[in-house]
Amino acid sequence: MPPYKILAVFGTRPEAIKMAPVVLELQRHPQDFDCRVAVTAQHREMLDQVLNLFAIEPDYDLNIMQARQSLEEVTTRALEGLSAVIAREQPDMVLVHGDTTTTFVAALAAFYHHKQVGHVEAGLRTGQKYAPFPEEMNRRLAGVLADLHFAPTITAKDNLLREGVPEENIYVTGNTVIDALLATVRPHYSFGDLDLPPALFDGHKVILLTAHRRENWGEPMRAIFRALRDLVRSHPEAAVIFPVHKNPLVRESATAILGGQERIYLLEPLAYEPFVNLMARSYLVLTDSGGLQEEAPALGKPVLVLREVTERPEAVESGTVRLVGTSYKKVYEHVHELLEDEESYRRMAQAVNPYGDGLASRRIYLALRYHFGLEVLRPEEFLAKRKDF
Ligand code: UD1
Ligand code: UDP
Repeated sequence: MPPYKILAVFGTRPEAIKMAPVVLELQRHPQDFDCRVAVTAQHREMLDQVLNLFAIEPDYDLNIMQARQSLEEVTTRALEGLSAVIAREQPDMVLVHGDTTTTFVAALAAFYHHKQVGHVEAGLRTGQKYAPFPEEMNRRLAGVLADLHFAPTITAKDNLLREGVPEENIYVTGNTVIDALLATVRPHYSFGDLDLPPALFDGHKVILLTAHRRENWGEPMRAIFRALRDLVRSHPEAAVIFPVHKNPLVRESATAILGGQERIYLLEPLAYEPFVNLMARSYLVLTDSGGLQEEAPALGKPVLVLREVTERPEAVESGTVRLVGTSYKKVYEHVHELLEDEESYRRMAQAVNPYGDGLASRRIYLALRYHFGLEVLRPEEFLAKRKDF
């Protein structure tokens, strides 16, 4: 009998950004769903920034983050904490998102308590066990445990079908990150309190950089940073803004190589609102993040991906995203080309939206209604089409 109890679980910044629209949508329909929120707080400050923006107050906060935490610590602390929450709440379904350790562990805890699992952003694959690490395994393991799979794209659905997931359990919804993005980017956003020169955007080609992937720690990340330092030195029109991830390993390399350099601005992690508005004003995005590969194309910003493989092939196919890897030479050459060659830049700077239309959370809500017998018809699937943002 409705309302069915849904426990949404997340722990890191990107999960929070992408689950917030789902939580808010479910909470708009209390007659259908009683949506509770449990955060592991695998991230602390970076999670809280998102909770504040979307005004989500978790019902449970496990507060597990420790400085320089290991995968084993995150896994065991989250598993024990989430098991207790699930035992107490007895939800009809646990909703998890994406591919973090919180995601996998939440699905495992739900399984141990015989609870159904809904996996949001299901079906992304590189096909390589260690790339990205440990995300490829986290999402595959969550996928095996899931009862419902909310695939953002047809490609993701095809990956799941190949693995033997029954088609009736897969819903192609678009990615909820586009719901969050469309609700947050504004044409005249003012960056009042950011520590940046006022005329930066008028006078420079601003490169927005983010980097945090585990497989890039150490030498790959240092090579990327050296390439950018040298590019900015040799291109007076270029500037780099880098909101540095809280991970101390990332901070150490960033500060050592990029700290104190002219026209390179190292910032604290930005709240989602200034961050995506900054992306909308930048010239080019360099990143090893997953979410940025989805957001930047929607804003018509070329993306150079600092990885060897991606689980998000759609925007690579449409030409807005290029995989460049992490060598000094490749990073230098690709950025140089996009700074110098207008035609090359123009070809990449096309707004495409293979990842969503802003209605993913609505489709997830409708799919849950259908699943629990509150709706007669399956929701229509998201079909990607080219369109201007
Ligand atoms: C985690 C996820 C990764 C996701 C990324 C998004 C795992 C194993 N990794 O990686 O999939 O892409 O989040 O950013 O699930 N820290 C803080 N404050 C914060 C957040 C992090 O101080 O708000 C520091 C802590 O020292 C922490 C370290 O960063 O120990 C690493 O955090 P962790 O969640 O383990 O790994 P990420 O690299 O952030
Ligand atoms: N983001 C943010 N502030 C920042 C950097 C990124 O709000 O300073 C957002 C970004 O818009 C995207 C998400 O965080 O939605 C990506 O998170 P991250 O790169 O940490 O993780 P990934 O996407 O790689 O899992």
